[in-house]
Amino acid sequence: MSKGLVPPHGGRLINRLGAKDDGGAVAATVLLTQKQQCDLEMIAVGAMSPLEGFMGEADYNSVCDRMTLTNGTIWPMPVTCAVDDATAGKVKVGDRVKLVDDASRLLGYLTLKEKYKQDKRKQALKAYGTEDPAHPGVKVVMDEGDTCLAGPIDVVTARHDPMFVDHRLTPAQTRAAFEKHGWKTVVAFQTRNPIHRAHEYLTKCAQEICDGLLIHPLMGATKDGDIPADVRMKCYEVLIENYYHPDHTMLSIMPAAMRYAGPREAILHAIYRQNYGCSHFIVGRDHAGVGDYYGTYDAQRIFETLPDGALKIQTLNFEHTVWSKKAGGMVSGKTFPKIEGDQIFLSGTKVREMLVKGERPPVEFTRPEIADILIEAMRSGG
Ligand code: ADX
Repeated sequence: MSKGLVPPHGGRLINRLGAKDDGGAVAATVLLTQKQQCDLEMIAVGAMSPLEGFMGEADYNSVCDRMTLTNGTIWPMPVTCAVDDATAGKVKVGDRVKLVDDASRLLGYLTLKEKYKQDKRKQALKAYGTEDPAHPGVKVVMDEGDTCLAGPIDVVTARHDPMFVDHRLTPAQTRAAFEKHGWKTVVAFQTRNPIHRAHEYLTKCAQEICDGLLIHPLMGATKDGDIPADVRMKCYEVLIENYYHPDHTMLSIMPAAMRYAGPREAILHAIYRQNYGCSHFIVGRDHAGVGDYYGTYDAQRIFETLPDGALKIQTLNFEHTVWSKKAGGMVSGKTFPKIEGDQIFLSGTKVREMLVKGERPPVEFTRPEIADILIEAMRSGG
């Protein structure tokens, strides 16, 4: 374990990789959903430390009600292997369950410790703050099975045909890379979008006070309408090449599924990054939010409710930032007063309209290299 970097959440980096395909008898085969496949990889590589598998009922309830595992460790959202009743009926405690992907390829095994009916409504209300089925994260929960299979997992292959293998570092690998760079403090930037000027500003402010910056885009399951992973990857590579210092910037992807749960997911994102070895974590406006479900700064405030020292990673909060023509740079309500007509603000819909027409948004909104990649992606139907 790397000395000097923050310890993993719960104190020990979990590794559930390295199991063998023993071809032995299993009680049942479960085709994991997209979210479950992402969770499986996150658990296996230790990004979800201290989880060693899918949660049991007591943890599920404790997480929903108190944001802790039953042992008191902070954990904000259920991580479950929910299956339909027909599958659940085939297995009993002690059985080995085979976990496969969409092409029926073996991912690993779950040793069944417990099976229980999940309370989806409770999960939706407590973890997502709404039971509205139009919420993309809630919809995923509502669409999954009613019975959860709980127990440790042993993973043979976390992902067949993984994308971005050169940039898919595990927590052990990012930790080793930080040490190699000699970085003691590292700030992580979560994003599910191309990096626009506001994002770039946050990362650079944070970079000023940390040794290194880990640009750590979430590349697991996202909702329809989000920009596809391969297009985003091109954007990150081009941006870093042109606008960041290579000695202080690293790009690696995080294979997690997006839950769109706003505040509770912000805590989950911070825990992941602590496991990857980061000391600081950027939380801006409406972090991990969607629609109007969460207040602009709810995802920042929720960290104030955690007991002191519960997380070893420190959040860096940023106000909503925009370009000010008068100031000639990015500003927030904290750094520059609002003047009528001074700010360059473009809605997501407006940006999309411009890109579809082949028009670059203003450079104050997005770097031209990024605009060109997005225009090209729209043209080819991306
Ligand atoms: S998120 O779902 O990953 O949070 P997004 O990729 O848009 O969405 O945001 C990445 C990070 O940048 C989040 O911490 C978010 O709060 C922050 N952020 C995005 N845009 C702004 C902005 N204009 N001002 C301040 N913070 C922002």
